[in-house]
Amino acid sequence: MPAPDEFVVTPYEVKGKIDYDRLRELFGTQAVTPEILARLHHLAGGELHPLLTRGIYYSQRDLVPLLDGYANGRPFFLYSGRGPSGPLHTSHLVPFDLSLWLQRRLGVPMYIQITDDEKFWARSGLTREETAHWGLENLYDILALGFDPKRTHVFFDSRSIAALYPLAIRVARKISFSNVKAVFGFEPSTNIGLVFYTALQSVPCFWPSWAEGRSVPCLIPCGIDQDPHFRLTRDIAEGLGYPKPALLHSKMVQGLLGEGTMSTTGNRADDALFLNDPPPVVERKLRSAFTGGRATVEEQRRLGATPEICSIWALWRTRFAESDAKFAEVTRTCRSGELLCGDCKGKVLERIHEFYRDHAVAREKVKDWAESTIITTAPKAL
Ligand code: TRP
Repeated sequence: MPAPDEFVVTPYEVKGKIDYDRLRELFGTQAVTPEILARLHHLAGGELHPLLTRGIYYSQRDLVPLLDGYANGRPFFLYSGRGPSGPLHTSHLVPFDLSLWLQRRLGVPMYIQITDDEKFWARSGLTREETAHWGLENLYDILALGFDPKRTHVFFDSRSIAALYPLAIRVARKISFSNVKAVFGFEPSTNIGLVFYTALQSVPCFWPSWAEGRSVPCLIPCGIDQDPHFRLTRDIAEGLGYPKPALLHSKMVQGLLGEGTMSTTGNRADDALFLNDPPPVVERKLRSAFTGGRATVEEQRRLGATPEICSIWALWRTRFAESDAKFAEVTRTCRSGELLCGDCKGKVLERIHEFYRDHAVAREKVKDWAESTIITTAPKAL
């Protein structure tokens, strides 16, 4: 039995109460410092995304040299991805919200990988039809956030394999079984699809450099659970003649049922707000969500509530507080006991309904051009 304070973070398992500073030490990553934030603020024309100001993106690798390069006229590209195991929920938008902001502010291209192969290999309960279906549905949701059709490119693994494979051949030769076993904790019974898969997740990091025949730096906004893949990528990059990808890691967003029941586990439907949940379902989930409130109104007025453990506060923090001033007000009035949980839920619900309404409209529109973003052919043979 693991000790109660033990936590596990790998691409295939997130469990326990995560100590994020400790995790950064274990993974050997750098902090997102106030200096870095000031730098980004400047490069972005005097603005910072809420996910940066509110401490969700807290860890990085090689972000400083990447920004130095950008400031000196060396543009980079963004890369993130999604394993389509089912509908997206609001926390899945974290890497894409930040990527979109970076694309808009810095004018850089975005590459998105949809890993319908990975999720078929990793989740025994899913059929191929299902992972392919969710892959396309998830892609619509991601693009509908507002990505620029001209600067956004998609690797939909099962459909893009001809484009990915020439590089995957070279990447796979550099990664040994003992590497993947050590990094992902694979067992002898793990299927060989997953053993190979990390090569495919590395390929987009190098793809633009390969396609353009020059070195193009890569920045990956992702959940910190994905870092193990990219440690392998970074170890082999130079041996293949490509730059090591830089990373910007987010914390994992707490689920609606409370701390330690991470929303990424995906098997507890009430733990998250899925983008295809109808409004009454969203409302029901919110009403029963875990909060940092007190047992009685009287106690809460007197002692205040605890935002840090509250799943509703996590919603305000990651997406639904439209300004930092609004977020600060929610936090302050929660802590002081002025704001009661029922009212707070009502307010966030309005914001969520509004987002769902706008998103549904945007989502219909992207269907016209989503397919055209999928890369299906290799730029060259070798
Ligand atoms: N493995 C990721 C998942 O399970 C999907 C993914 C592919 C990804 N490429 C990525 C995530 C790059 C972040 C960055 O969801």
